[in-house]
Amino acid sequence: PASDPDLVERARAAKAALGDRVFVLGHHYQRDEVIQFADVTGDSFKLARLAADRPEAPYVVFCGVHFMAESADILTADHQQVVLPDLAAGCSMADMATFDQVEECWEALEDAGIADDVVPVTYMNSSADIKAFVGRHGGVVCTSSNAKRALDWAYARGSKVLFLPDQHLGRNTAVLELGFALEDCVVYNPHRPNGGLPDGALRDARMILWRGHCSVHGRFSLDSVNDVRARVPGVNVLVHPECKHEVVTAADLIGSTEFIIKAIEEAPAGSSWAVGTELNLVRRLANAHPDKNVMFLDKTVCFCSTMNRIDLPHLVLSLESLARGEVVNRIEVDPETAHYARAALDRMLALP
Ligand code: 13P
Ligand code: SF4
Repeated sequence: PASDPDLVERARAAKAALGDRVFVLGHHYQRDEVIQFADVTGDSFKLARLAADRPEAPYVVFCGVHFMAESADILTADHQQVVLPDLAAGCSMADMATFDQVEECWEALEDAGIADDVVPVTYMNSSADIKAFVGRHGGVVCTSSNAKRALDWAYARGSKVLFLPDQHLGRNTAVLELGFALEDCVVYNPHRPNGGLPDGALRDARMILWRGHCSVHGRFSLDSVNDVRARVPGVNVLVHPECKHEVVTAADLIGSTEFIIKAIEEAPAGSSWAVGTELNLVRRLANAHPDKNVMFLDKTVCFCSTMNRIDLPHLVLSLESLARGEVVNRIEVDPETAHYARAALDRMLALP
């Protein structure tokens, strides 16, 4: 069991034995039992920035999901090895855009005669293959904390953006931060011929959104917002931009996990907050701020099942094997993919 004191002690002992040879990163959605062993915690942007921060550590243990560990492998030095404690910790959103599908979409843009006008932008939540595709076509990676800056960068270079794979982050940023109309956005469905779009739709759109979404954030609804407002007078609704457009427009504040944490930290005692993001983080915030009324936006929404795959037994397995000099569950991106993906990641890291 997670709270097994024996496992806590084993993780502590293995980490102590490794000392500076291991660097443990933890995303905010990780379980408490795992996050207690992280050297740094953060949202996806902060973790991408920090991944290369300890070049002296030969081992980097990434407590998060597959695409984050891939990015860490791309950003760390060649002699460093990145471990994902459970290789099954993927991301259903990242899986919604495969390399072949994105290539097919690009061909549709070429057939429509507009590929030269399009700058591809991919959310961090995508495979290294997709980041490399974007890097090869002069595009940029973004996260939920810099999507506006990435889109400003892209629209300075082309009149259209292909935004992969989260339609909600793309639409929310275009409409709420860039002032686009909803009609400026079209949704490309990779399972339909020509994206399921009528002739001319790609040519007329300014923002071409991929038909992907987060299976956790996509479940918050306008009803969840209306219900909590009716139940809790004066409640502040704070949501992640992976939520649907109707949810973020009804919310009071929108931001990445790092933004959400800061907002709660800075909130006055006695204030009420309904938070629409992953449950591990919301629970941790509620426990850390007993003087504030922090609640989950919708009780029917649950944990991110893949983030939750990284549990204490898997972390112990990773740390104990590394302490024996064995690298189990390594994430390694092939050099060519890494090269082009890095170009897109570096453009993100250099955004003003
Ligand atoms: P951030 O870490 O950018 O807030 O993204 C949340 C998320 O869903 C990561 O998978
Ligand atoms: Fe993917 Fe959503 Fe889980 Fe983040 S919370 S890892 S986007 S499924």
